Order: sequence, then C-alpha cells, then structure tokens
Amino acid sequence: MTSMTSVRRLLRGGKEIAALQALSGDAGLIVLREERAGDIAAREALLNEAFGAARFAKTSEILRSGRAPARGLSLTATCNNQLVGTVRLWHVAAERGRGLLLLGPLAVADSHRTFGIGGMLMREAIARAKARGHKAILLVGDEPYYQRFGFAAALTNTLDLPGPVDRARFLGLELEDSALCDVRGMIRPTGVLLNQRVRQDERELLAA
Ligand SMILES: CC(C)(COP(=O)(O)OP(=O)(O)OC[C@H]1O[C@@H](n2cnc3c(N)ncnc32)[C@H](O)[C@@H]1OP(=O)(O)O)[C@@H](O)C(=O)NCCC(=O)NCCS
Repeated sequence: MTSMTSVRRLLRGGKEIAALQALSGDAGLIVLREERAGDIAAREALLNEAFGAARFAKTSEILRSGRAPARGLSLTATCNNQLVGTVRLWHVAAERGRGLLLLGPLAVADSHRTFGIGGMLMREAIARAKARGHKAILLVGDEPYYQRFGFAAALTNTLDLPGPVDRARFLGLELEDSALCDVRGMIRPTGVLLNQRVRQDERELLAA
C-alpha cells in the first residue's frame, strides 16, 4: 500500500499540471495532465481492460457517442510516462439546466488502483469544472465510491437519462448552491458533434 507525501502543482509548457509524489516504488511519480491526442490508443486499451465490450452499451455512452468531450476537461494520469488513469467530462443539458456536465468514464489501471489516482482525477476534474463556471456534474456510478466527492443520488430525482439506468447509480454534484434544484426532464447531449469539430478544425487550418 502506498502513502503519499505531497501534491504539487507545476507549470509546465504553460499548462497547469498536478503532480503527486507517491512513496511506493510500485506507483512511482504520478502526473496528472490534460489528455493529448497521443493518449488515445493507451486510453482505449485501459477502458477495454476496465469495462470490456460492455462499455459501449452503457446509457451514458448515448450521451457521449459522436460528441467531443468538454474542452480542457479530459484528464490523464501517467506513471513513468505510461497512461494509468483517465477521466472525461461532457456537455449535457436538461429543462432549466444549463452548464451541466456528465462525468465518465473514470478508470485507473488495475496495477495502479488504491494509490489515490482515481481520487486525484476526480478532485482535479471537479475543481476545473467549477473554475470554468459549470453548475453541476452528473454521472452513473457506484454511490459508495462517488459520495466521497459529494455526489448523491438524491440530487437526480427529477432527471431522466435516455436509456435504462439503476436510479441508485444516477448521481449528481452541485458546483453552485441549489444548481440542480429546478433542473428536470431528460438529459440530452450538447457537446460539439465530432464531424462539426473536424469541419471547424479544417476552417481554422484554411484560415491560418
Ligand atoms: C473506481 C476506480 C476508478 C478507483 O480508482 P482508484 O485509483 O483505485 O481510486 P482511489 O485510490 O482514489 O480510491 C480507492 C478506494 O475506493 C474504493 N473503491 C473503488 N471502487 C469502489 C466502488 N465501486 N465502490 C466503493 N468503493 C470503491 C477502494 O476500495 C478504495 O478504498 P480504500 O481507500 O478504503 O482502500 C478504479 O477502481 C477503476 O478503474 N475501476 C474499474 C472501472 C470503474 O469501475 N470505474 C468507475 C465507473 S463507475
């Protein structure tokens, strides 16, 4: 089991990076940073290992499929430059609900679990979402794990998802007081469509 001595915040290449020094020789130096294009293959392998093919059948996937994640809110944890953790946040909305995010998937490599990496990813994702002015975060997951970050099933009573869900696992976290109070109805995806993102990138390239 690892104990951790310090959490440092570094500025590297203009981007804020949270680095966590773990004492254990197994864990090494864990660095948290924004996800990069070069992480995609390792991230896919990690998600396949963590969830198997069932990951594509999840109701949350309906809200993520074909959409880009929220900018600046996809995080990667690395250990000795190897990807060992991932979390993403996605734009969603509901009736009277703007500034909502959906969190997931969150996964840590089996070899690196219980070192605090999942918690580090969660706290950093929540802090960044709050700093960007988002009002609340929703997710589907185990309340016994996510309640330590403030998530509760009681906050999603008035909300629905576009697919089957165990309501005890449909959780919310308010980043602003009472942010989920009046929000109701079906959650829908509002992130940039991936084909639009490609067209936008092409326009930016042509304009450059
Ligand atoms: C859930 C997960 C991300 C946690 O990552 P991690 O780096 O091990 O998390 P942390 O080190 O911050 O926390 C570990 C603690 O959470 C507990 N925990 C992990 N999964 C849990 C769960 N589903 N329910 C309750 N507690 C859980 C561990 O037992 C451990 O408890 P301890 O602190 O008393 O020893 C990781 O176990 C994982 O990737 N699991 C497979 C994918 C998954 O289930 N993702 C979540 C989707 S709902």
